[in-house]
Amino acid sequence: MEQYVVKGGNPLVGEVEIGGAKNAALAILSAAVMTDETVTIENIPNVRDINVLLNAIQEIGAMVERVDAHTVKMNGSFIRDFNVDNEYIRKIRASYYLIGALLGKYKKAEVALPGGCNIGSRPINLHLKGFQALGATVDIRHGLVIASAERLVGTHIYLDKISVGATINIMMAAAKAEGKTIIENAAKEPHVVDVANFLNSMGANIRGAGTDVIRIVGVERLHKTEYSIIPDQIEAGTFMMAAAATKGDIMVKNVIPKHLESISAKLLEIGCEVEEFDDAVRVVSARRLRHTQVTTLPYPGFPTDMQPQMAVVLGLARGTSTVTESIFENRFKYVDELTRMGASIKVESNIAIIDGIKNYTGARVNAPDLRAGAALVIAGLAAEGITVVDDIYYIERGYEEFEHKLAGLGALIEKVSTEKEIQKFTLKVS
Ligand code: UD1
Repeated sequence: MEQYVVKGGNPLVGEVEIGGAKNAALAILSAAVMTDETVTIENIPNVRDINVLLNAIQEIGAMVERVDAHTVKMNGSFIRDFNVDNEYIRKIRASYYLIGALLGKYKKAEVALPGGCNIGSRPINLHLKGFQALGATVDIRHGLVIASAERLVGTHIYLDKISVGATINIMMAAAKAEGKTIIENAAKEPHVVDVANFLNSMGANIRGAGTDVIRIVGVERLHKTEYSIIPDQIEAGTFMMAAAATKGDIMVKNVIPKHLESISAKLLEIGCEVEEFDDAVRVVSARRLRHTQVTTLPYPGFPTDMQPQMAVVLGLARGTSTVTESIFENRFKYVDELTRMGASIKVESNIAIIDGIKNYTGARVNAPDLRAGAALVIAGLAAEGITVVDDIYYIERGYEEFEHKLAGLGALIEKVSTEKEIQKFTLKVS
C-alpha cells in the first residue's frame, strides 16, 4: 500500500499545468468505439480510471494504441464481444458509458454494474430509463446491465434529476437512434459539452449541449476524427484550493477560466486574490481567510467534486462556515480524518458546520475517496508537521503525477510504501 508523506507549512508558489478532464475523457473514450474508423484523442489524463477503461475497451476487441502518455488511437471495428466485465472495470463508475456507446452502435451491451468512489448510493436508474425510452430492453442479471434493442427510436426524455452520467449516456445512444431525441433537464457540465462536440466531430447531430435541453438527430454512421479533451476543471480547482490553504501564490495553467467561475467566486469571497488570464488563473492567498457558505449544485453551481477541498480551506478561515452537500449523501467521510488534524467540524445531515482554526497539525489519515483524498493532502500541506495519507490508490484514480506537480510548487511530499521510507522522509525534512 502506498502513502503520501507530507511536511506541511510551506506556501505553495509557482506554476502548474493542468491535464485533460478525466470525466470527459472517460465518456469520450467510450464514445470513440462507436465508429469503425480510427479516432485519435489527445490530452487524455494518464490516470488509473482511464487505464482501466482502455484495458476494458481493448478486451472486447477494439484496437487501442497508446501513441504517447496522453494520446490514444482507437479503432472500434474489431469489436466482437459486447460483454464488458473484469475485476477492475467493476470498480470504476464510468464503465456505464460503454452501455450507451455499445447499445447505440450494436444495439446490444452487457456491462458490469458500476462501482466508483464510495460517496453514497449511486443509482443508474435514470440511464436505464433513458435507454428504455429509446426502445431498449434492460435487465440486471449476475451483476451485469444487459441492454438490447431491435431498433432505437428517438423520443422525448425528461430527466427527473439532473445527472451528468445519464445525460451523456442517453446522448450517446440517441446519436445513433432513428429520428429525433430531446433530453430535458439535462446536465450542463463542461464535459457534457465536450462529449457532444466530440460526437459531432464524428458526424453526430447534437444541438444544445450546455443548456438544459439537448436535441439529437440520430445518424446512421459516425466517422473518424481527431479530438483534444478539455482541461480538468476539478484538478485545476484542487490546485486553486492548495494555494488558498497554504497561503500560496499559484498560476494554474492550461485551464478554461469560465469553467472555474464558481470556484473563483468563492475564493474571492473568502479573501483570496484571483486573477484570470486567457488560459490560466492565478490564486494568491496573502491573509487569513474569512468564513462563508457553500452549497454544491449541478453546473454552473459549485461542484460536489470540489466540496472536500473547499471544506479544508474553510477549516482554516476565521469564523463559522457551512458546506451543504446537495448531490451525494455520503460525502463527508473525510471529516473524521480532518478532525484528527485538529479541524473543528460538525456534520448535521447534509451540512458540515466548520469553525475555522488557525492551523492543522499533521497526523496519519486515510483517503476515503478520490477528491477527499486530495483534500487531505492539501490539509497536510497546510499543517504543522508531518502528515501521512494512506490509501492514495483513490487519489491516483484521478490525479496525474499529483505529488510531482505539488513538489514543483515547493511542497515537501513523497510517495512511499514502507514505514522505513516514512522515517527517512521525516529525518530528511526535519
Ligand atoms: C459524475 C462524475 C462525478 C461527479 C458527479 C456530479 C463521472 C465519471 N463522475 O458522476 O465525479 O461527482 O458527476 O457532478 O463523470 N442519480 C440518480 N439516478 C441516476 C443517476 C444519478 O438518482 O440514474 C443521482 C445521483 O445519486 C446523484 C445525482 O443524481 O445524487 C447526480 O449524479 P450524476 O450527475 O449522475 O453523477 P455521476 O454521473 O455518477
